[in-house]
Amino acid sequence: MTIDLKLENGKLLIEDQLVPAEIGIDNGSIIKISRIVHEHADERVDLKGNIVLPGLVDVHVHLRDFKLSYKETLETGTMALAAGGVTCAVDMPNTLPPVNSYRTLVKRIDEAKGRLHVNVLFSAFPSKRDILKLVTLTYFFKIDFSRTYFLDFNPYNERELSEVFSKVSSETIVVAFHAEDTRETGGSWPMKASAETSAVKYILNWLVKFMNQHDGALKAHICHVTLPSTVKLILENKRKLKNLTMEVTPHHLLLSKRHLGKFKSVAKVTPPLRSSHTRRRLLRYFSKGLIDIVASDHAPHALTEKAEDVTKAPPGIAGAETMLPLLLNLVNKGVISLSLVKRVLHDAPCKLLGLKHDIYEGSRAHLTIVDMKARWKIRGEDLYSMSKLTPFEGVTVKGIPSITIVNGMIVMRDRVVYENVKPGEVINEWRRKDTVS
Ligand code: DOR
Ligand code: ZN
Repeated sequence: MTIDLKLENGKLLIEDQLVPAEIGIDNGSIIKISRIVHEHADERVDLKGNIVLPGLVDVHVHLRDFKLSYKETLETGTMALAAGGVTCAVDMPNTLPPVNSYRTLVKRIDEAKGRLHVNVLFSAFPSKRDILKLVTLTYFFKIDFSRTYFLDFNPYNERELSEVFSKVSSETIVVAFHAEDTRETGGSWPMKASAETSAVKYILNWLVKFMNQHDGALKAHICHVTLPSTVKLILENKRKLKNLTMEVTPHHLLLSKRHLGKFKSVAKVTPPLRSSHTRRRLLRYFSKGLIDIVASDHAPHALTEKAEDVTKAPPGIAGAETMLPLLLNLVNKGVISLSLVKRVLHDAPCKLLGLKHDIYEGSRAHLTIVDMKARWKIRGEDLYSMSKLTPFEGVTVKGIPSITIVNGMIVMRDRVVYENVKPGEVINEWRRKDTVS
């Protein structure tokens, strides 16, 4: 028997140990994992001792497209993800037009087919009017407390919030919260730290009541936490709320206000970068394994927009390609372990999304292969994202993704993403099939 692809001379990360292994892939699935795979293969790749991780998942990206295609398209955004070693991502709904109705979500899904380099789940803003139809197409909803105008209800009104979700509450539904309370400090950038504290308190308080009434249904996910006190608050509430997770971005872990001074609009982001003291404590919490997930919050903007003064430029950092290298660099520096990277970029995201991406015989072949010895100097101009700007400009990292495999196809090798290889699937389609049958 001849199989499609054989990965030779690799190492698997199994419970903190690196175990030599070869992987045979056929028809998009892993068919053999063994010290030596004997089957003949059409293509053989010598991994030269590189480490094979299960395909990594970024639960927070803004792929733009639609009328914001001048910032990023589904093609360029998913190329950026593939370059960053990400095989699956969740797209955020603050597009133009926003994904806050059934009609727009259908359009989003239909337009994505055949254009994706990696797998994508399209999320939506919950809508009082359309919620029952929306759940036939997605299970990931976003509530942005800093931009409530995307919603057809008031999320600051607990009764309205409960009304929307009581119709669909289930353990498979994820609600992700952007926690910055505009009532606290007004909506203008940068919102104060107290806006985060206040929003998180409001959300947790509502969740406890809602979950009690609805038997613990819904998965609640707090996006991009920036304060150690927020982490503590969420950890305390995990005892009461079993499906509660939080995410942190690489920029909030590694950059502070100081970088805003240096990189100006390029480092402008929401929530804003905090003091170096706060950032260091956040990194310490993360390195202790207290934060569930790392996500890029990849938010590309056009060069001309970011050329504006920091007060006028739109907030957002294009982080899809730098997320994994920055974390691998922390592994090489001894700050975190590779197992923690796997936990925050694979295990916990997959659990949140209900995906099975593990490496086993019979699984779909979504793999992220990393070279822990290679160095890479981050340069905006080399990014696949249309936004050629990064506040990590000039930083040299040690440890990079060397190959990204999606549905059994190599989409990236040695930082080259294959423009014509688009094996990415729309994850929402799996749900559509489930609902129809
Ligand atoms: O900095 C940000 N940019 N934060 C957000 O919440 C939205 C994002 C964007 O869409 O540009
Ligand atoms: Zn975001």
